[in-house]
Amino acid sequence: MPEALSEVKEVARRLGAPVVKRGHRTISSIQKEYKRPVLLVKNDLNLVLYTLQGQKLFFHPGLFKIRLLNYLRGGKESLIEAMDLKKGERVLDCNLGLAQDALMAAFVSKVPVLGLEKEPVIYEIVKRGLERFKPKGKLKVAEFAFKLVKPKLADNLLFLKELPSNSFDVVYFSPMFIKPKWRDGVMMPFREVAVKDFVSEETLKEAERVAKKRVVIKVNKGVKELFPYLSNYSSLKSSGRVEYLFKDT
Ligand SMILES: C[S@@+](CC[C@H](N)C(=O)[O-])C[C@H]1O[C@@H](n2cnc3c(N)ncnc32)[C@H](O)[C@@H]1O
Repeated sequence: MPEALSEVKEVARRLGAPVVKRGHRTISSIQKEYKRPVLLVKNDLNLVLYTLQGQKLFFHPGLFKIRLLNYLRGGKESLIEAMDLKKGERVLDCNLGLAQDALMAAFVSKVPVLGLEKEPVIYEIVKRGLERFKPKGKLKVAEFAFKLVKPKLADNLLFLKELPSNSFDVVYFSPMFIKPKWRDGVMMPFREVAVKDFVSEETLKEAERVAKKRVVIKVNKGVKELFPYLSNYSSLKSSGRVEYLFKDT
């Protein structure tokens, strides 16, 4: 498959990783030889990362489906409420991750959502995942949203600094939760790989300059009190452990 081979070489070049032909070898024998995580390019060109702690990371829409179905049933969803998001409003997602929040935002805004991701492997996995994922069943209504999320490999602070004031309606952050007390099986491979930066005061200042309407931050409950510069943010408690902080700009 020449198309697959050139894709493999291109991804490897971007990540500064060697290309290894798997043949009949197991992933763990390749990991042992190179002492690095292995990014597998599947025949359908989707990517799967095998981490050194034995976890598998690949693109999946996860809780997006449940959130979408709840939204369609009741017209309410915490993220959309926190953003007060309307059709046509432009969202900058500063922590793309697996793009579940960005998909929700794109579904409601119906316009492109730009998603920044700092971790190169997560960026490659999610970019391809969004391009190739074929929603089935009830998720089919959201097919257009997968095309509206535009991933970009970037550090959010550096990217925000380059943007003109008021260039997005909503600027959104969802940093990795700080010391979560639970062990969420689905999130484990993600935690191993993701960048753990929290939103700094400087980043927030830039976000408030760039957001025409609102800045929103998703945190785990109790985190707001740890950061005095979040004191002028309002709070919307969501189910269980999540809290959305927001400020009109
Ligand atoms: C909790 S996850 C985001 C989850 C995402 N909102 C979703 O719905 O799937 C945080 C993501 O932000 C990324 N990240 C952390 N610091 C960043 C930064 N400074 N700039 C851009 N992305 C960053 C991490 O690598 C991780 O993928």
